[in-house]
Amino acid sequence: MKAAVIRKYGGPDVFRIEEVKEPQPRAGEIKVRVRATSINPIDFKVRKGYLFFLSGFRFPKILNSDFAGIVEECGAGVDEFVPGDEVYGFTNGASQGGGLAEALCCKASVASRKPLSLNFDDAAAVPLAASTAYQALVPIGKLTSGMRVLVIGATGGVGHYAVQMAAILGAHVTGVCRSSGEAAARALGCEDVIAYDRDDFHKSGKTFDVIFDAAGKYGFRDCRVLLNEQGTYVTTVPGPSSMVGRVLSGSTGRKARFIIANSNDADLSLLRQWCDEGLMQPLIEAVFPLEETSAAYELAESGRTRGKVVIRTHSSRS
Ligand SMILES: NC(=O)c1ccc[n+]([C@@H]2O[C@H](COP(=O)([O-])OP(=O)(O)OC[C@H]3O[C@@H](n4cnc5c(N)ncnc54)[C@H](OP(=O)(O)O)[C@@H]3O)[C@@H](O)[C@H]2O)c1
Repeated sequence: MKAAVIRKYGGPDVFRIEEVKEPQPRAGEIKVRVRATSINPIDFKVRKGYLFFLSGFRFPKILNSDFAGIVEECGAGVDEFVPGDEVYGFTNGASQGGGLAEALCCKASVASRKPLSLNFDDAAAVPLAASTAYQALVPIGKLTSGMRVLVIGATGGVGHYAVQMAAILGAHVTGVCRSSGEAAARALGCEDVIAYDRDDFHKSGKTFDVIFDAAGKYGFRDCRVLLNEQGTYVTTVPGPSSMVGRVLSGSTGRKARFIIANSNDADLSLLRQWCDEGLMQPLIEAVFPLEETSAAYELAESGRTRGKVVIRTHSSRS
């Protein structure tokens, strides 16, 4: 099968398109004929070697956690799926890519039925980023109707889902993004937008029940002043102040938390329902063929994208 592989850590130019052996599903795994994948920052952090202590030095590697495709084969003990099922999900863990290939094997437990309303390109843009947003806002942030939430990075890969979800849940959403993204943030569901290149959101004078730092650019210490007394700050990128805050803040008063997303059927089923009911949809910056993986990564890493960058691993349009 065809795959975009890396044989060393480095820049976006390290990808090579090669013929590699088809993977075989082990017990508890499914083999998925991948139709599309999308890029998450963890993928380029792995490619740069920043996470070598997790991803190791065995090459070649096939990156990308997100996938959408069709089940081709089920390993022993898998009864959730049958060949032909259309699925989406992400492979958990920094060292487990696999999406940048025509086929991958993964635990059946990380996959779920693909939303019927989305094609494979769109479906591949959902799993990791939207699961992160959901798990940060609901199980961790305990966001409910009527609460006030600040989403930092409101038009980014994770943030654009967080804004839509917070609006679905009936929360009042304020978004933080660059001034050029203001209209997009409002279209996603922000009632208010603070442009971080124009205004300092720390001085907005507002307070929030939940602050979701989807961009992972600020710390608990920066945001504490904006939290209500029982408010929760959740970040995607734990730094020293969030780690210390997590330990010190306990379970009452202002709390600091961080999210490590995991792929599971329950959350992916809820995301599917929201997509199929037309309540949530992925924002796609661009779609590239597998052969242009390096260009797709260059764009994804440029800091100029809104939503997600998708790579189509299958030659026909999905
Ligand atoms: N812990 C986990 O499980 C987990 C899961 C997913 C992602 N993450 C991490 O979360 C981070 C974001 O991921 P992503 O997929 O959303 O990335 P992304 O698509 O590149 O989005 C990054 C966002 O950061 C915003 N931003 C950049 N500088 C900013 C600033 N100074 N103030 C406020 N916002 C700023 C950008 O806004 P503008 O475009 O408006 O500049 C953009 O919306 C990454 O570091 C990623 O590794 C962690």
